[in-house]
Amino acid sequence: MTIRALSIIACTALALPLTALAAGAADRDAILVGYARQAKAADSGFTTFSAQRGEALYRNQWGSGDVRTPSCVSCHTADPRQIGRNAKTGRLIEPAAVSSNPQRYTDTATVDKHFARDCKSVIGRDCTPLERGDYITFMQGQ
Ligand code: HEC
Repeated sequence: MTIRALSIIACTALALPLTALAAGAADRDAILVGYARQAKAADSGFTTFSAQRGEALYRNQWGSGDVRTPSCVSCHTADPRQIGRNAKTGRLIEPAAVSSNPQRYTDTATVDKHFARDCKSVIGRDCTPLERGDYITFMQGQ
């Protein structure tokens, strides 16, 4: 193989993950824009999502849902950059933090499904658009 062919292969290998990262971020931004629109519709005083509120939601011991899962931490662990473990099934869960898992929060159907299911399990109700946006904003900084 020539040096030229090798360098083309090397460049392609480098470019692909960068494109995937960019697409992931754009999809996540679009999901956040959607939640912001809903949050504004629910409360005209809404201005912006808060990583701090998202972290509080994540770490709070709710005690209003399933006894096995008082907190998001119960499955996604205290450090969301780490691999989690499902408190109900024992199965491993890929990290929730975007830095460890850039594909997180990029597919609307997946995001909606898990917020509905996991918030019900932990809090005993679905998360609001404000809570969803806060949570993703927190995870983006992790
Ligand atoms: C019973 C264990 C469990 C608890 C508790 C839990 N989750 Fe999850 N969560 C999962 C599993 C399993 C997945 C899907 C597997 C995966 O995405 O790796 C997931 C995925 C998600 C996703 C989708 C991620 C994506 O890639 O788009 C969101 C959003 C989410 N969880 C939010 C929450 C929030 C918010 C809480 C706390 C209110 C919470 N989870 C608590 C188990 C849990």
